[in-house]
Amino acid sequence: MNLLEVRSLNLWYGETQALKDVSFSLGRGEILCIVGESGSGKSSILYSIIGLLPEGARVEGEVVFEGRDLLKLDEGEMKNIRGKDITMIFQEPSAYLDPLFTVGVQIGETYLAHIGGPRDLVGDKVIESMRRAGIPKPQEKVNMYPHQLSGGLKQRVCIASSIICDPKLILADEPTTALDVSIQKRILHLFMRIKEEGRSVILVTHDFGVVAEVGDRVIVLKDGKVIEEGNVEEIFDAPKEEYTRMLLEAI
Ligand SMILES: Nc1ncnc2c1ncn2[C@@H]1O[C@H](COP(=O)(O)OP(=O)(O)OP(=O)(O)O)[C@@H](O)[C@H]1O
Ligand SMILES: [Mg+2]
Repeated sequence: MNLLEVRSLNLWYGETQALKDVSFSLGRGEILCIVGESGSGKSSILYSIIGLLPEGARVEGEVVFEGRDLLKLDEGEMKNIRGKDITMIFQEPSAYLDPLFTVGVQIGETYLAHIGGPRDLVGDKVIESMRRAGIPKPQEKVNMYPHQLSGGLKQRVCIASSIICDPKLILADEPTTALDVSIQKRILHLFMRIKEEGRSVILVTHDFGVVAEVGDRVIVLKDGKVIEEGNVEEIFDAPKEEYTRMLLEAI
């Protein structure tokens, strides 16, 4: 059984239809990349999966995760899954950090909420996930507040909280865009290890270099529709759609 099956997903923000009959599946230990120009609906797919759509959004279709349709779950059931089995690295991570708490507290909070355990053990987990997320000298940063950290470090704090519970699925929305090349490599390496553990990632990116490096399969979105889907090699060697060729040429 696939980890995730998205079937005929349609999404409206008020009158505007942002996703049109989107279907795809994701296996365990697979990295699926979503590419497409700005406004094509990439983030909307991730928000639909994790159940964080804004007020006034209407969604239809199925998002079957481990055999259960997430669109049919109530908020309480979704809260048990979100942060633990499915996590998200947001496009604008700073907006999701609370200025009033240290980053260590914020990273540990998810772990305490879902798994729990003695405080020093949670502290060890926090440091370990900060290190895995490529944060140098985590012991020095763990007691800092978000405003004391650079944008790139804040991004890695969000990555650390997204991996601390060893989720089955990570939704990553342009996770490396704000990072310099060496850190970007490190994060991509982290995704490869996550994949080797049999976990899965959906990676939204503008960067076909990133797709080539870590992607197994790709879906190409245009105006809310999947216009092309295939293995990374197929898409690179023989893109079927003119639009995909154009995106490839843009790099
Ligand atoms: N909260 C919202 N309310 C109304 N319309 C929205 C909302 N969020 C997104 N949209 C619209 O839905 C469409 C898809 O947006 P989405 O953010 O999913 O695109 P995207 O591919 O992630 O773009 P980008 O590459 O710029 O992040 C766009 O037309 C956008 O304007
Ligand atoms: Mg987006």
